[in-house]
Amino acid sequence: VAPGLLRVTPSMLEKYGRPRKPRKMVWMALEGKVYNITAYIPFHPGGEGELLRAAGKDGTSLFMKTHSWVNVEGMLGGCLIGILVSEEEEAS
Ligand code: HEM
Repeated sequence: VAPGLLRVTPSMLEKYGRPRKPRKMVWMALEGKVYNITAYIPFHPGGEGELLRAAGKDGTSLFMKTHSWVNVEGMLGGCLIGILVSEEEEAS
């Protein structure tokens, strides 16, 4: 793992990645990487609601269905916080 990147399990994504008042922070996993997309939310061309369908989840399949041509790494590279790992992997 690259230094400085978190190992994030699906349950951690769910726990920390969904906006819960008063916290608005949102994490999303895309193609095995975990991004803190909070700052990007107001800029999403498809609107906040669409983007937040995958808040705190692995949004890869939804993302691929809507716009597989969008360069995630190019747009969100600066928001990369970790890599997605399975619960089993993390426990072992
Ligand atoms: C546009 C949904 C995540 C970047 C759109 C549109 C939808 C959508 C429906 C079309 C809006 C329109 O044409 O009126 C979603 C859903 C997401 C998601 C359900 C959850 C996974 C993301 C993420 C990014 C992103 C993470 C950035 C990396 C964009 C861009 C467009 C767009 C750049 C404009 C694409 C174009 O017109 O070619 N999105 N989005 N989206 N979204 Fe998302």
